[in-house]
Amino acid sequence: MKILVTGGAGFIGSNFIRHLMSAMPGHEVINLDKLTYAGNLENLKDVERDPRYTFVKGDICDRRLVESLEFDGIINFAAESHVDRSIMDSYPFLQNNVVGTQNLLEAARTRKCRILHVSTDEVYGSIPAGLFTEESPLRPNSPYAASKAAADLLARAYYETYGIDVVITRCSNNYGPCQFPEKLIPLVISRAVEGKPVPVYGDGGNVRDWIYVDDHCRAVAAVFLKGEPGRIYNIGGRNERRNIDLIRQLLAKAAEKTGADAEDLIKLITYVKDRPGHDRRYAIDPSRIESELGWNAETGFEKGLAGTVDWYLANRPWWEHIVSGEYMEYYRMQYGERMKI
Ligand code: NAD
Ligand code: DAU
Repeated sequence: MKILVTGGAGFIGSNFIRHLMSAMPGHEVINLDKLTYAGNLENLKDVERDPRYTFVKGDICDRRLVESLEFDGIINFAAESHVDRSIMDSYPFLQNNVVGTQNLLEAARTRKCRILHVSTDEVYGSIPAGLFTEESPLRPNSPYAASKAAADLLARAYYETYGIDVVITRCSNNYGPCQFPEKLIPLVISRAVEGKPVPVYGDGGNVRDWIYVDDHCRAVAAVFLKGEPGRIYNIGGRNERRNIDLIRQLLAKAAEKTGADAEDLIKLITYVKDRPGHDRRYAIDPSRIESELGWNAETGFEKGLAGTVDWYLANRPWWEHIVSGEYMEYYRMQYGERMKI
């Protein structure tokens, strides 16, 4: 089977392609990626010569291009993925996440092939207590989350109207190698290594459910291969953490691994003005995928975090290149008024 993986040069997409090439050897992959600021072919250096792998630079919104490709199934990771950027400018989010998904749904309709749409737990909004199930109402609070919810609703409509073979996954917060350093965990690691202030939004009491990226990749593969058409699958780590506790744990881990003084790293914590519309708590119930598809999150948090810190320490040129370039301008716009940088 030849699978069109979109957004394969990004964080989760690149980890997924690596997983697919090793765990599903009978499959070929076309990686369609526009290479936005978040796409990086360095992430796939180890698979680029594999004859089962093809890279196509292009946009999922480009209908002709998508029509010209040969494939038997689609897994859609391509998206603008950062909440803070969607607050600064929501236009690219609507275009890439909604129109792009529609284009891929059309391609799946024409070819009568399966499409797995990778969504997020953020479509459910914030939950003060209890867990999001697949039946929880959609209450997105950021332009990013609203664009993902809109794509989910389109996917549902294509299933109901045209009967196309759609499956949707909604995962919680991922962490692991190759994550762009605008996201909390790599941001904290890179700032700690450089001895720079670590920005904590609001009171630091917001809660996220963290999952190691390999566990998410295995879940996506399971849903693609065994999921029921039209069904939604929540994916989560059963691993809720308050941001401030996670940041302290990460800084302690960074101190242990670098030999820096732990107290000096803790002093980098800088409380800053909150993100507008900041969801207080995400908590996801993955019972459906566990019971129906036999999937479980396997990576313990301590082990996953330690491996992630190791990866960022061993791959400094990967992120130093990013944080010294255009990203600096984004960083100034995002944090400039909130703290001295
Ligand atoms: P990312 O920002 O690291 O990567 C996104 C990739 O998509 C990049 O390679 C980018 O170049 C590509 N892309 C963007 N627009 C495109 C377009 N129009 N055409 C082709 N390629 C395009 O994102 P990520 O964190 O790896 O997230 C991947 C997917 O998983 C997204 O759909 C996101 O909503 C979803 N998701 C992410 C998380 C998380 O914690 N990061 C959790 C749940 C779901
Ligand atoms: O839940 C899944 C979602 O997780 C994905 O759909 C998104 O693509 C992904 O970016 C992530 O969204 P979050 O907004 O939860 O992730 P982020 O890493 O931006 O922030 C995690 C938490 O940390 C959140 O409560 C905001 C806080 N934060 C973030 C940054 C960047 C800070 O306190 N300081 C920061 O500088």
